Amino acid sequence: MKILVAGGTGYIGSHKVVELMQQGYEVVIVDNLCNSYAGVVDSIAQITGKRPDFLELDLADADATECFFNHYTGINAAIHFAAHKAVGESVAKPLMYYRNNLYSLINLIKNMEKQGAGNLVFSSSCTVYGQPDELPVSEQSLIKPAWSPYGNTKQVSEEIIHDVCIATKLKAIALRYFNPIGAHASALIGEYPIGVPNNLMPFITQTAIGKREVLSVFGDDYPTPDGTAIRDYIHVVDLAKAHVVAVKRMLSNQCKSNFEVFNLGTGSGYSVLEVLRSFEKVSGIKINFKIVARRAGDIEQVWADTSFANRELGWKAALGLDEMTHSAWEWEKALRNIELKTQ
Ligand code: UD1
Repeated sequence: MKILVAGGTGYIGSHKVVELMQQGYEVVIVDNLCNSYAGVVDSIAQITGKRPDFLELDLADADATECFFNHYTGINAAIHFAAHKAVGESVAKPLMYYRNNLYSLINLIKNMEKQGAGNLVFSSSCTVYGQPDELPVSEQSLIKPAWSPYGNTKQVSEEIIHDVCIATKLKAIALRYFNPIGAHASALIGEYPIGVPNNLMPFITQTAIGKREVLSVFGDDYPTPDGTAIRDYIHVVDLAKAHVVAVKRMLSNQCKSNFEVFNLGTGSGYSVLEVLRSFEKVSGIKINFKIVARRAGDIEQVWADTSFANRELGWKAALGLDEMTHSAWEWEKALRNIELKTQ
């Protein structure tokens, strides 16, 4: 079975490619390398002992995408990770988010449909729930207005997929990620943000290693036990494994409808300070941090009801917060060694 992984050199995509290849799938990666680098393909080959096909391609470019699909046939399913994903950045640059995240999806689906490759796993986000009225949030919870352009692109993307699934033979599964952190146990792949990280975990590890002077904690006046915002952090490897289950489900026609949606989280919420303390415990390093104002677009708290995914997919997150922060730290140290060698 040949699987197209759009955004496969990125943080989540690369972990997913490893899990797919280890399960015997043939993988074709396309990525525009806007937030990743081509060397990730070497690391994937090192972990799996096999090299996936890789093509530099911007899916938001309609002509280039059509050209790719004209030459590359026999794709059984696509997994779409190729999107911008930073809440704060999306507030500052909304058009960049709408253009990239929506065009890439439309071009991908349009060409898949033409090819008759009608299986899509879409990388969605808990951000579609906005700030939920009740916690934990389940797939049946009300979709409230998005709090950021990033969140809106995920809501609109799900609507587009839903409508196309009704109008055509497309089958799709949207996986609503909560907050993926951590890295592969080999420390050969992990999150490698280009420039200043937007997300919490890479900012913590970069502060610990000395690349950043101080971590800003965005707000300590939220209505949470320690005043900092709460998220459901999930190990990226657990997340990647869920994608393999989703692909298998689609390809073996086990889906209960043409468009299915699952929450991917652990079911537990942790505050920013709890993540920080876990990191300090596993690394033995004290993090220099300061409390600053809330970040635009951030919600207060969210964590997942995972019972539907656990039951239907037969999947459950297995790794805890300390394993997440520990693997993120091992990756940051490995990255320093690579950077030192290449200097
Ligand atoms: C959001 C989405 C999540 C998605 C992720 C992709 C929501 C609720 N969640 O995560 O589904 O996978 O984007 O990027 O929309 N923080 C700091 N200092 C920092 C960075 C972050 O205090 O330097 C805080 C944030 O304010 C937030 C928490 O850490 O409370 C996590 O932030 P981040 O890692 O950026 O992810 P989200 O924006 O929650």
